[in-house]
Amino acid sequence: MFSELIIREYKPEDLDQILELVRELEAELAERFPEVQLISSIDHYKNRYLVSGNKYKTFVAEIDGKIVGYLMGYPSTGALEVDNMYDIFPSPSWKPKEFFLQITFVSKPYRNRGISRRLHEKVIEYARDQGYEEIYACIAKWNLPEIKVVSSLKFEMKDLGHRYRLTLKLR
Ligand SMILES: CC(C)(COP(=O)(O)OP(=O)(O)OC[C@H]1O[C@@H](n2cnc3c(N)ncnc32)[C@H](O)[C@@H]1OP(=O)(O)O)[C@@H](O)C(=O)NCCC(=O)NCCS
Repeated sequence: MFSELIIREYKPEDLDQILELVRELEAELAERFPEVQLISSIDHYKNRYLVSGNKYKTFVAEIDGKIVGYLMGYPSTGALEVDNMYDIFPSPSWKPKEFFLQITFVSKPYRNRGISRRLHEKVIEYARDQGYEEIYACIAKWNLPEIKVVSSLKFEMKDLGHRYRLTLKLR
């Protein structure tokens, strides 16, 4: 555990460091799936995910001023096809019941020291404060470290074939 580890909300000045982590993530994905043609999502991060005021909520892990990991999620309608294509915002008369954990990434040299766990604890606290009924993630069965992190936080696991849905009831 790092004494100087800070978990906090994303700020616009973090953009370049996050994009560097996204490049690292994409290089790792390309290694894991050599047969797949991977189109970079850098432009989506710049123009959508990390643009303030959209539905995405991002937390970062910082050590001595360096961003070494991030976690991104958003309010979920429960209809994945809608969530994937549109930005849906809570309104005074309608509030989504679920908060979806989209992605977590921790830079390789910083792994296995509890950083992902700390990012998840932060987003759980955020979702609880915001009044969501549950928080959930869908994790591929090959992703053992991420399954370990999320299941250790008392999320309930449901087998969906090639992946698990992990759900934590917040109230
Ligand atoms: C998944 C990921 C975010 C975990 O980050 P991390 O900061 O290393 O996670 P933590 O240190 O909090 O916990 C990792 C746990 O997995 C365990 N672990 C690591 N490798 C493992 C493996 N091959 N099999 C089983 N468990 C493993 C660690 O021992 C640790 O558990 P412990 O705390 O009980 O010892 C990181 O590995 C990563 O960025 N991977 C690439 C991107 C990715 O797959 N993201 C998730 C999908 S969206």
